[in-house]
Amino acid sequence: MCGIVAYLGDKEAEPLLLEGLRRLEYRGYDSSGIAVLNGGGLELVKKVGRIQQLERALASHPLHGSLGISHTRWATHGKATDINAHPHTDASGKLAIVHNGVIENYGVLKKKLAEKGYSFRTETDTEVLAVLIGFHFDTLDTETENRLEMAVMEALREITGTYGLVAIHQDQPGIMVGARRGSPLVLGIGPHEHFLASDVSAVAAHTQTVAHLRDFDVVTIDRNGYRLKSLTHNKAGLEISRIDYQAADTELGDFPHFMLKEIFEQTISIQNAVRGRLNIEESTAQLGGLNLTPQEIREIDRIVITGCGTAMHSGMVGEYIIESLAHVPVEVEWASEFRLRNSPLDRRTLVIAVSQSGETEDTLGALREARRKGHRVLGICNNVASTLARETDGGVYMYAGPEVSVAATKSFTSQAVIFLLLALLLGRMRFLSGTQGKEIIQAIEALPDQITQILKQSAHIRSIAEKYRKADSMLFFGRQMQYGIALEGALKMKEITYIHAEGHPTAELKHGIIALVDEDTPSVFLCPRDGAYDKNSNNMQQVRARKGPVIAVATEGDEEIHQHADDIICIPAAPEYVTPILSVIPLQLFAYHMAVILGRDVDKPRNLAKSVTVP
Ligand code: F6R
Repeated sequence: MCGIVAYLGDKEAEPLLLEGLRRLEYRGYDSSGIAVLNGGGLELVKKVGRIQQLERALASHPLHGSLGISHTRWATHGKATDINAHPHTDASGKLAIVHNGVIENYGVLKKKLAEKGYSFRTETDTEVLAVLIGFHFDTLDTETENRLEMAVMEALREITGTYGLVAIHQDQPGIMVGARRGSPLVLGIGPHEHFLASDVSAVAAHTQTVAHLRDFDVVTIDRNGYRLKSLTHNKAGLEISRIDYQAADTELGDFPHFMLKEIFEQTISIQNAVRGRLNIEESTAQLGGLNLTPQEIREIDRIVITGCGTAMHSGMVGEYIIESLAHVPVEVEWASEFRLRNSPLDRRTLVIAVSQSGETEDTLGALREARRKGHRVLGICNNVASTLARETDGGVYMYAGPEVSVAATKSFTSQAVIFLLLALLLGRMRFLSGTQGKEIIQAIEALPDQITQILKQSAHIRSIAEKYRKADSMLFFGRQMQYGIALEGALKMKEITYIHAEGHPTAELKHGIIALVDEDTPSVFLCPRDGAYDKNSNNMQQVRARKGPVIAVATEGDEEIHQHADDIICIPAAPEYVTPILSVIPLQLFAYHMAVILGRDVDKPRNLAKSVTVP
C-alpha cells in the first residue's frame, strides 16, 4: 500500500507530484506529503487526510524546485497524523525519504540508533530508516562522490522487510536515489527528466518509456541520467519498455464515481478478456500465455486456486466452473492461509494465483511458497507489469484496463470469464464434445448483451437500495456457483457502505444464521432457475415466515419468484456456468447505490487501500 512519486527534471516538481499522487491515491489515502530541494535547502509539507488537504496546505505554502519526492499513505506503523505522514527526515533534517513497505526489524534498529544518541519524532518504521540512512551519510567523508547512494545501500543491508523508497539529501542537491525490495517502483524516462513511482499511472501522462526495478535494485538519478546498482551484485541492466497506457482510462468521464464507471465497463472488459482466445473451429479456448504443452495440460490432475478478497471469490466461482465442465478437482485457498501451511501438493497439481493488481503481498507469498516447493504456478492478473506477472510460470492477462475504485468490480467478472475459458480448454482436452464446446462459446459470446440488459436496471436497483437504506445488517445467500457471489455481494456491501453484511451457503441458514433474521434485516437470495431453485424457494419462505424482507436475484420470466420475494432483480436466462458472471452485477449496483444514498466515499472507503502490499 502507499504510493510514491518522485521527479527530477527541468520543470516545477510540485504540480507533477500532486498530479501523480492523485493517480496513486487508490493505494492509500490517510495522509500525504511532498518534499522538494531547491537552492534554499529541503522544504517539506505533509498533511493528514485526503490529497485535497495537502493541496490546500500547498496553496498557502507553495514549494518551488525541480527535484521532489511525494507520498500518499495507508498507515501501518503509527496513526494517520500530520507528523506520521511521509516524507520522513533524518536527525539533521537535510535528508528526506518516502517509503512503501514495512521495515520488520525497525524496533531493533531504533534501539541501536537511540543508544547512539538519536531521538525520534514519530511512531513510524520509515523514520527509523531515514535516521539510519542519515547516520551512514554523516559517517561518510563529505568528499565522497556517491555519498547518498552509498548511505542508502549501507542502510538497506541492515534492514529486513520490504521497501520501495526514494531518498534525497540537501547536501547532494541534484540527486535522488530509489530502491526496491518487495514493493513496486517504476522508473519513468523522459527527455531531460526522470520519475520514480509506485505504478505507471503516475507517470504515463509524461512518458511512455519505463523500466520496472527488480528486487534489490538501487537506481541513482541525476541531471545527466540514471545509474543502476544491485544489493545482490546482479549485473543485469534494467529492461526498458514502452507502455500502452491511456491516461484517459483513469479519468471519470461522465460518471460520478469510478466504481459506477467500472461496473458499466464490464460489457467491454469481458470482451477484452475473451478477445483472440476462442478457437471457433475447434470449439475450444486458446490460452498461449499458459506456457504449457497440450500434453502438460492433459496431465494436470488437480488445481489449487489462491488469492485474496474479491480475487478469492472469483476463484470459488472458478472451482465450480472447472469441476463441472472439465471434471478436474479444484481447491480454493485464501492466499494468506496457503502461504503458511504445508499443503500436500503433487507434481501434477497446478497452482493458479489470482490478483487484479498482481502486487498483493499474501498472494505473492502463496505463489512463492508454491514455486519453492517446485510447483508450476500460473497467474490470472490485470496489471501486466506486476510482480505476479513476472514471477509466475505463465498465465492469462485480464486486459480489463485500470481499475481505480478500491472496490473491485470489473476485475471479478474478467477473472470469472477467464476461468470459463480455462474450463473450456481443459474440458475439450478431456471429454467435452465439440457440440458442448460450441454451446459454451455461444454462452460466452452472449455475455456482453446480457450484461447490458442488467445495467439497464440500475434505477430499479437504486429504488431497492432506497427502501432498505436504514438497514444495519444484511444477509446474502447462494448455493453452488452462487455461493462465491453471495460472499462477493456481502463484501461489496460492507466495504463501501459499512453496513454489516454476511454471505453464506443458502442451506446454512437453518444452522444458526436464521437467528439474525428480523424485519429490519434484508436477505438477498441468489436464486436463478437452476437445479437448486426449489430448495432456495423453501429457504426464502423460512426467512419470510420470520418477517425478514427478501430480495431475490432471479431469472427473467420466472413468475413463481413473486411468491417468495419482496423485491426482485432479474438476470437473463443463461446456462448455469455463466450465471455467476451475471448475478454479481446487480449486487455491485446494489452496494454502489446504497453507498451513494448513505453519503459514503464510494471510491475510497475508510481504512482500505486498493493494493494490499503488506502481510
Ligand atoms: C474488494 C477488493 C479486495 C481485493 C483484494 C485482492 O473489493 O478489492 O478484496 O480483491 O485485496 O486484490 P488483488 O486482486 O489486487 O490481489
